[in-house]
Amino acid sequence: MHKRMIASGIEALGAVDWDRRLFDALIPLPDGTSYNAYLIRGTDKTALLDTVDPDKTEVLIEQLADVGHIDYLVCHHAEQDHSGAIPAVLAAHPETRVVASAKCQEMLFDLLGVPPDRVMVVKDNDTLELGGRSLRFLALPWVHWPETIVSWLEPEGILFSCDLFGSHLATTDLFARPDSVLEPAKRYYAEIMMPFAGLIRRHLQRLEPLPIRMIAPSHGPLFDHPDLILSAYRAWVDGPPENRVLLPFVSMHGSTLAMVEHLTSALAKRAIGLDRFDLVTADLGRLAMSLVDAATIVVASPTVLGGMHPLAVSAAYLINALKPKARFASFMGSHSWSARQTGDVAAMLPSLSVEVLPPVLVKGLPKAADFVAIDALADAIATRHANLT
Ligand code: FEO
Repeated sequence: MHKRMIASGIEALGAVDWDRRLFDALIPLPDGTSYNAYLIRGTDKTALLDTVDPDKTEVLIEQLADVGHIDYLVCHHAEQDHSGAIPAVLAAHPETRVVASAKCQEMLFDLLGVPPDRVMVVKDNDTLELGGRSLRFLALPWVHWPETIVSWLEPEGILFSCDLFGSHLATTDLFARPDSVLEPAKRYYAEIMMPFAGLIRRHLQRLEPLPIRMIAPSHGPLFDHPDLILSAYRAWVDGPPENRVLLPFVSMHGSTLAMVEHLTSALAKRAIGLDRFDLVTADLGRLAMSLVDAATIVVASPTVLGGMHPLAVSAAYLINALKPKARFASFMGSHSWSARQTGDVAAMLPSLSVEVLPPVLVKGLPKAADFVAIDALADAIATRHANLT
């Protein structure tokens, strides 16, 4: 990838990872990703902001070949997709000092062996003069790790936001196009940011007074019209849940599937939206995106080895960890000889503040009375969804 000028003396560096399909050995990347770094030249000092994933180190080193002196390497976040090339940059540039939070300094040593004496620790609101322009560091913990900071460049009004406002999107577009970026940005929010929505709300309030002209995240395209992503984040964080049900399910011999089919029709009759995921083939990123909006979660699983099917256990674990804004939850399941599975949604999703709607537990294939119970569940959902504000 070639370097691109985003403003006078400010270049976008980094690497596009067109072929990567999994992040953290968990998160699907259907659109690939990018690792963005930036080079800012002041009249006195030069700063590199972040690096790239270790696999793309050579790309960055080549981009830096004609840069000469690098005074500072700002590390916003110690996760290796941004910090992974720091050791190589420090080896090539003995003059460079890393700039990071105290917690990040510790993590860089733990994760990458970066010597602490190469790190200049900064605190919230500290500034770094580059000559004619300066960086102000804002501590925004948990976007994505506790050590994370972002940089505010004056006088240009550019927010270098690291993971915040990012998207896993491999593209040659320097700036975001609304049609292509909002879906991957929402996927990214759902997978990475949603567990910290309460903190992000506070961070958005803190950023509100800044005259932001451009947002330059560490993944995906930049935003030269920042309100596109700022307004999307406000809606994802603070908007009420929608009249939708998320229904992740597993079925081994068709009984649970028959319940799922009946609930699907029952919800449609009541004009309730449905995001239905067969967990055998589900894209967990799409499931996470549905969690951003769904007002109700219904998990459906047969009993196997005395409990929920492991795919349903895994999905429930993920849903609980992502802490969505859902307000209601329930369970449907079929068993043959062991009724030990109780459909205890409160135990499955302890991090969520949901009203638990009566589960539907069936022995074998669902019968007429079971379908009536599923209709009652759909009625209960419809009643609750009538007042979503
Ligand atoms: Fe893109 Fe949390 O690293």
